[in-house]
Amino acid sequence: MRQPADAAPSRLLESRYFLAQTVARHAGMMALDLFRRRDQLVIEFKGTQDMVSAADRDVERFIKNQVRAVFPADGFLGEEGGIDLADAEFVWVVDPIDGTACFVNGMHSWCVSIAVLQRGEPVIGVVFDPNANELFHARAGGGAFCGEKPIAVHAGQSLKDGVLGVGTSFRVGVGDFIPFLEAVLRDDGMFIRNGSGALMIAYVAAGRLIGYFEPHMNAWDALAGFVLVREAGGQCNAFLDNGGLLRGNAVIVANPAVWRRLAAHAGLPPVAAPAAVAAR
Ligand code: IPD
Ligand code: CA
Ligand code: CA
Repeated sequence: MRQPADAAPSRLLESRYFLAQTVARHAGMMALDLFRRRDQLVIEFKGTQDMVSAADRDVERFIKNQVRAVFPADGFLGEEGGIDLADAEFVWVVDPIDGTACFVNGMHSWCVSIAVLQRGEPVIGVVFDPNANELFHARAGGGAFCGEKPIAVHAGQSLKDGVLGVGTSFRVGVGDFIPFLEAVLRDDGMFIRNGSGALMIAYVAAGRLIGYFEPHMNAWDALAGFVLVREAGGQCNAFLDNGGLLRGNAVIVANPAVWRRLAAHAGLPPVAAPAAVAAR
């Protein structure tokens, strides 16, 4: 259910919401230019199937400089540069390119993901897909949008009513993922993985995917999408519990009925309210 728009959001929040959208668009266009010249990029491996290039670092530096030029006292957590000013009232949580494996291999499912936390609560979420020119954005109490259009989560009440997004990585074991897929298939569900978890969570907010599950994501992958999903009427797990901001956590997002099915398939307690998920 869509929450009523907050008539008077604080100016502190509104100015950051505007900046997050503007910066995400510019960063996305910068990344798109690098994507078109990706044959010149040197690819490094940070871990198994975990790549990085100068594009990731340059785009993150651009976003951080833009934020710091306007809000020098804000904190910043980026995938490539780590955290600084963690105790600030507002902390920006940024993945400059989510879907790096797609980016470096010439596929189009990647995006820029920007969340803003106020006193530890995610209050702004922006995901920009420059290939599709789609800007997903939400702020707490203000609804969720794709461009100008309000968005809402899928209305389906069971997994057979839609397509589920999933993701995994070598940060977890194979056994943390495969049993979940089997349970989904036995429940008449079907899944896709496009290589960009942040974009797939935005698709949940837009009602394109019926939900999303991943056994472990980092805060920069997930938090922008969490604001989008909540504002689009969906349910999210308690990602920030157990040190989730710096350690990451499992991700389950969907409408409340589907959320309960997914939590059961993932082996979490079948509670209606968001449940704490053990940090890894
Ligand atoms: C990854 C993508 C992927 C998800 C991984 C993330 P990156 O982020 O979101 O879809 O399954 O957990 O690490 O490395 O492309 O920024
Ligand atoms: Ca990512
Ligand atoms: Ca990334």
